[in-house]
Amino acid sequence: MYELKQTDREKEGPAKRKSKSETSPGNPRWSSPDSRQRQTPSARTQLGGRQTSGVPGRERKACEASKRQERSQSAGDRLITEAAGVISSLIFLFILLHFITALNPTASPSPPNHAPPSPRRRRQPRTPAPPSAAAATDRPSRPAPAPSRPQPQDPAMNSEEFRKRGKEMVDYIANYMDTIENRRVTPAIEPGYLKDLVPLEAPQKGEGWDDIMKDVEDKIMPGVTHWQHPRFHAYFPSGNSYPSILGDMLSDGIGCIGFSWAASPACTELETIVLDWIGKMVGLPEDFLSFTENSKGGGVIQGSASECVLVSLLAARAHKIRQLKKQHPFVEEGVLLSKMMAYCSKEAHSCVEKAAMMAFVKMRILEPDENQSLRGSTLQQVMEEDRAMGLIPFYVEATLGTTSCCSFDNLAEIGPVCEEYGAWLHVDGAYAGNSFICPELRGPMKGIEYASSFNFNPNKFMLTNFDCSLMWVKDRFRLTQALVVDPLYLQHSYSEKSIDYRHWGIPLSRRFRALKLWFVIRSFGVEGLQKYIREHCRLAKRFEAHVRKEPSFEVASPVGLGLVCFRLKGTNLINQKLLSSINASGKLHMVPASLNDRYVIRFCVCAQNATDADIDYAWEVITQFAADMKVIMAEELENKEKQVEETKENKEEEAQKEAEEGTEEVFQMLDRKNKKSLRYKRSFFVRMVSDPKIYNPKIVRSLPRTVGKSKGEIYNPKIVRSVSLIGRRSLLQKYKANGPRRHTTDSEPDSQTFNTPAPTIDEKAVTQMLEDVNLDEVFADKETRMKFLTKAVSDLSERLAMNHKQLSPTLSAHTPAAYKRSPRYSGQQPSPRNAQLISSLSDITDDSAYSSPVMGGLFILPSVLPTLKVFRSCRWRI
Ligand SMILES: Cc1ncc(COP(=O)(O)O)c(C=O)c1O
Repeated sequence: MYELKQTDREKEGPAKRKSKSETSPGNPRWSSPDSRQRQTPSARTQLGGRQTSGVPGRERKACEASKRQERSQSAGDRLITEAAGVISSLIFLFILLHFITALNPTASPSPPNHAPPSPRRRRQPRTPAPPSAAAATDRPSRPAPAPSRPQPQDPAMNSEEFRKRGKEMVDYIANYMDTIENRRVTPAIEPGYLKDLVPLEAPQKGEGWDDIMKDVEDKIMPGVTHWQHPRFHAYFPSGNSYPSILGDMLSDGIGCIGFSWAASPACTELETIVLDWIGKMVGLPEDFLSFTENSKGGGVIQGSASECVLVSLLAARAHKIRQLKKQHPFVEEGVLLSKMMAYCSKEAHSCVEKAAMMAFVKMRILEPDENQSLRGSTLQQVMEEDRAMGLIPFYVEATLGTTSCCSFDNLAEIGPVCEEYGAWLHVDGAYAGNSFICPELRGPMKGIEYASSFNFNPNKFMLTNFDCSLMWVKDRFRLTQALVVDPLYLQHSYSEKSIDYRHWGIPLSRRFRALKLWFVIRSFGVEGLQKYIREHCRLAKRFEAHVRKEPSFEVASPVGLGLVCFRLKGTNLINQKLLSSINASGKLHMVPASLNDRYVIRFCVCAQNATDADIDYAWEVITQFAADMKVIMAEELENKEKQVEETKENKEEEAQKEAEEGTEEVFQMLDRKNKKSLRYKRSFFVRMVSDPKIYNPKIVRSLPRTVGKSKGEIYNPKIVRSVSLIGRRSLLQKYKANGPRRHTTDSEPDSQTFNTPAPTIDEKAVTQMLEDVNLDEVFADKETRMKFLTKAVSDLSERLAMNHKQLSPTLSAHTPAAYKRSPRYSGQQPSPRNAQLISSLSDITDDSAYSSPVMGGLFILPSVLPTLKVFRSCRWRI
């Protein structure tokens, strides 16, 4: 019936449909619920009759009238002539009307088959309602507007146009992929290039599609880095197989927002099924799967690996706080949180540090072994230390396939340590996780059974478009407990029986991402995906063989999957120069990494259909640039030597030195810069994470790699809480005019100690205070000094416990060494009482000064300078 009505409509053409929709719509897709109810069988019959006869209504009435006229005449021939006249005039009228209809199709219905049937037209009227109206009603069942009403403006694109432009777009993409090699892999433009080409105001009126597409080619493409280019060897691959693109296109077309099962059941259910498929494909233990009997586990699609890491950290944090709350019901969550410690390797992706920052948890970044693998023994040692200091290990992030060199943390060792300490183990396999589809590559997964959660990104190495990061958890309730909020408007009656993925992640809205995965897996099959991964591994091995054959190069780390880290034998700077010149040429694109403080170049096989020829070409380019560089460097050195010779005799020595340093000068500078950005950046983040109060790059300089000797029993939160305020006033008076920001001065700090958010550090004020402070004045009174010292013990022990031992460059003038040099303090002996305290502190301090920028200021104890030259109270308010 439904189909039949459709067919009838197709036959009628658009004009007829418009008028009919108002009166007697036959197709439920076109009629409003009301009009459907109103529609009677007789109306439908009438409609059908009209359609089959194909005679217009007005003509029919005329015909019937004439027939009645005929019948009303008696059989008498007297009227025959008259009747014949009437009939002939009616026939004439009929022909005339028919003629007018043919000339003006909108005036009356078209004859059958006048317009070609078009399913697109059925779905979308030519003049649909404006978007706002459409959003408020059920668009397909909305009757077409009456012709007499003012017509809404045409949308930017109707379905006819979409079909046409969609085909063109598919052609454009296919051409782009087929000819991508003709483009430069990286754009040759400067930052801000686009604002000179594109207006800075949005257009008021819609523009033509052809104009837009022209601008794509002329203005956008010149600024694109072509990740699918066969010369692109940077980062990791970015999947975009055709089945994936089309799957995503369908998802966009469906346009559902699957935050709950009810919001779009297929969206949720396909996600669960596909995640189970893939879980099995990569050999995950069954308790990570949804459909295993009695399983509490399951999988979810997140937007990125970073999200997976953050979500797992939030879940671990919530779980641990809940556990601790049971043991210490009267301790505030914030206090508990301040004791909790997370861990990851130095080689973990920066998103792990970022997650810790966002979740406001402390994180220790651990040294991996010489193969960049985090070992169980390292983790065990630091966890022991931390536990002894009253800290609570709660989360460990291990990476399978690190970003810099694709190394693997040792899960089999780390797992049992996590279990022993009750820590949540999250395993990030963003790139390498995909390779576990191949059974022979699953070695690093040993120990995965200890993991609480695991993620990898099919958008990296499984031919699927971004965004698609898969995350599995062993206990979905632990995950969702951290994230559930359930307002009434999102609830539905099936929530007990179904999964609502909005509780599994951060966003509410979720695209139908399972579709593209489903398309990819079904199109390639597991075998096709395995073949693709194995081929990339083979090509990487081919590249590695090239590197090994060339004596001036070295391979910097073991090659397992599609990534090769290599370098020119020589300084970091040479390698840096080599890479920047290659990248600048646009012939290849690669990025660097730092391994054991050595600058290495990452070569990743990225293009889906990379070939031997691509690998060989890349190697040719690299060796060519390396050869050129050697020549340039030799020339530079020669020039410098010439300069030295020309230098005057009395400056010969200095010039010689300059010449030696000459070539290296820039290199060293770059080295320093590099160190700062790679290594120092990391430690800076760590400190920021560990203590956001000290988030001031100018003040903070470095973080010691190991914590000082532990002395857990000294850490007593009660001492920390009962902070003395003595001494505060004298400083306050001194720096009232231009000192640091002031906070409460008179209330006892107990209630604030843990609860008041830290103010921003006023570095200028701290520096000035350091310059101005007269120690004798501040600490003139012995009793005050003792009280300071008592405070110092608690504060220092807390700082040690928090792993906040730092030496600020601003304060370095106040180190023990600096004071020893000062005649004023040299040889000064501490008083007997201070000596006693010093001895009690001796095993938690070392020769370094303990200092850090304070919210209030810096307190210096001259009498205990040999042991504690500089320290500060982070809890005091000035
Ligand atoms: C090991 C690892 N983890 C996490 C990430 C971050 O991934 P995403 O961009 O999906 O957040 C990367 C990115 O390359 C990675 O290599």
